[in-house]
Amino acid sequence: KQVRMDASMAEKGGYKHYMAKEIAQQPTVVGGVLSAYVQNDQITMDLGPVDFSKIDRLSIVACGTAYYAGLTAKYWFEHYARLPVDIDVASEFRYREAPFSPGTAALFVSQSGETADTLAALRYSRDKADHIISLINVPESSIARESDVAVKIHAGVEVSVASTKAFTAQLTSFAIMALKAAHQRGHMSADVLAGKLAELRQLPGLMSAALSIDDITQKISTKLAEARDVLFLGRGQMFPLALEGALKLKEISYIHAEGYASGELKHGPIALVDQHTPIVVMAPHDGLFDKTVSNMQEVMARGGRVLLISDVRAADSAGDGVWNTITMPEAPELLQPILYAIPAQLIAYHTAIAKGTDVDQPRNLAKSVTVE
Ligand code: G6P
Repeated sequence: KQVRMDASMAEKGGYKHYMAKEIAQQPTVVGGVLSAYVQNDQITMDLGPVDFSKIDRLSIVACGTAYYAGLTAKYWFEHYARLPVDIDVASEFRYREAPFSPGTAALFVSQSGETADTLAALRYSRDKADHIISLINVPESSIARESDVAVKIHAGVEVSVASTKAFTAQLTSFAIMALKAAHQRGHMSADVLAGKLAELRQLPGLMSAALSIDDITQKISTKLAEARDVLFLGRGQMFPLALEGALKLKEISYIHAEGYASGELKHGPIALVDQHTPIVVMAPHDGLFDKTVSNMQEVMARGGRVLLISDVRAADSAGDGVWNTITMPEAPELLQPILYAIPAQLIAYHTAIAKGTDVDQPRNLAKSVTVE
C-alpha cells in the first residue's frame, strides 16, 4: 500500500512523529558533536578561562532529562578526572541556598536555555562560583548569555517535548569535557586520551547499529503497554539511564514508571514486584554485570518479568527465565550510557504508540518550562 506523504509528514522527514525523526537523527547529531570538539587526537572544546586542574569541585544543576545527563556526567568526571561533582535539580538547589566552597565551578545544563528554575539557580550562583559554565542547545538563550562560558551541544532544533537527541548530544559533549578534565588534572595520559577519543569516534556507527532494535522493541512494547507499573534498573553509570528510561515512559505513555539503582531494589521497590510488573534492566556486560544478574534473579524469583537490555555476551550468560531480551552492539564502557539511550527512547516511543497517546505533545507537559 502506498503511503501518501502530506505536508506535516514532510516536515517530519517522512516519520510519523518528530520524536521518531529526532531519535533517528542521533548518529548524525553525535557525529556533529565530535567534529565540533575533537580533531585527530586533540580536544578542541573551548572552555575559556576554565582550567580543571584549578578546580576542586564541580556543581551541576539542571531539570528533567538535562538533569539525568548531568548525573551521568558525575560518574564520568569522578571516575576519569577524579573531580568531585555535586548534582542538583535546579528547583531544590536555589531554595536550599547551597553553600559554595572556594574552587567550585557551577555548570548548568539546559536544552532550551530558558528553564526558569535553571536560570534562577545560575543567577543565584553568579557571585559564589569561580566560573559559570553552561551546556546549552540554543546559543541566543538567557542561560547561554548569562554564563561565562556557554558550550553548545549542536543538537539542532528539537521539536518533540520528550527530549531525545538533545540528551545524547549533552552526554557526548559531557564525555569530551570529562576527558579534557581527566587530562588537565593529570589522570589521563595523552596516549590513553587518544584511545578514548578513538572510542568516541565509533559512536555514530554504533548508534546506527543500535537503531536496528526498533522492530523487536516495537513488538515488546505492545506488551509493556498493558502494564500499570514498570520498573527500570541500572547500576553505576547506567543508573541515570534507568531514571531517564522511566521518565521517558511516563512522559509520553502515562504509564507509572520508576527508575532505581539495582542495588536499591531490596530497599523497597521489590515489594512492588509481581507477575504483572515488567522490570527493564539496562545492563551492558561490564564489571558490575554479575551483581545485576543476581538482582534480576531476585526479581524473577518473585514472578517479575525481566526485559534485559544488554549486549551479546551478557544475553548468553544471563541465564533462563528472562521474559525478553533486547540485544545491543558491544561498546566501550564510556559509550554505553549514550548508546543505551536508544532503547530507553524506543521503548517509550513504541509503548506510547501502542497506547494511542499524543507522542510529540504529551498532556500537561511543555517543551520549555519558563515559569516556576
Ligand atoms: C521540560 C521538558 C523536558 C526537559 C526539561 C528541562 O520538562 O519537557 O524534556 O528535559 O524541561 O528543559 P531544558 O530546556 O532546561 O533542558
